[in-house]
Amino acid sequence: MQEIELKEIKRDYRSNEAYKSLRTNIEFSGEDNKVLVFTSCTPNEGKSTVTIAVAHSLAEAGKKVLFIDADLRKSVLAGRHKVNGQLKGLSHFLSGQTELGEVMYRVKDTNMVMIFAGVVPPNPAELLGGKRFESLLTSARKAYDYVIIDAPPLGSVIDAAIIAKQSDASVLVISANTVSHKFAKVVKEQLEKSGCPILGVVLNKVDMGQNKYYGKYYGKYYGSYGDYGHEEEGKAEEEA
Ligand SMILES: Nc1ncnc2c1ncn2[C@@H]1O[C@H](COP(=O)(O)OP(=O)(O)O)[C@@H](O)[C@H]1O
Ligand SMILES: [Mg+2]
Repeated sequence: MQEIELKEIKRDYRSNEAYKSLRTNIEFSGEDNKVLVFTSCTPNEGKSTVTIAVAHSLAEAGKKVLFIDADLRKSVLAGRHKVNGQLKGLSHFLSGQTELGEVMYRVKDTNMVMIFAGVVPPNPAELLGGKRFESLLTSARKAYDYVIIDAPPLGSVIDAAIIAKQSDASVLVISANTVSHKFAKVVKEQLEKSGCPILGVVLNKVDMGQNKYYGKYYGKYYGSYGDYGHEEEGKAEEEA
């Protein structure tokens, strides 16, 4: 299997703590929760950022993790992590152009394996609802402790609901101050209709300076960590 290095995993103290707490919640949610789909309401809420960091955090804890970039319409991960642009991905496998072994990449020094999205196909929903995706998940369930799927935003396209039907549980990533309560509720209900339980919600891009509750909390407990967390505008904060 080809080996890659991930270039952009967030490493600041607060984010790390938030991801560890999310990881712990996943680990304690029960052994039936193996295939987890991450979605959001709209693009750019930080779903890919959070999903890959959680997968990496689980791998750091010694779990065997398969990360699948199933956002076939807007894949940025291969580019962001500066992996060879020619690479074959999920769309190639799902459309029958390659075998599974050719689209799997081992992340250096971890138990984490990645499948990137590949080129944008004309029929993403059809491919994700097809036999090859089902068989990929069936064999991945046997070989890995966790299968973490980065799905497109459910408020934009139906793909995440199709994936959720085949997943054990879901996580909703919501960016603070961008999505209305009403819209979040609609997406939550759509996710529930797919029959996939929602494990929790990640409130992302919380402005620690603006938000009184979090500001106070972190000020009290982590204030002495000085520069940590002041370099970025927002933090991933795990909520449920
Ligand atoms: N907690 C955060 N704080 C600041 N920027 C963030 C945070 N989470 C994500 N981002 C940035 O927001 C942008 C969109 O993130 P991405 O993970 O690609 O979103 P999505 O997958 O939901 O479309 C990226 O530039 C990413 O670096
Ligand atoms: Mg994304």
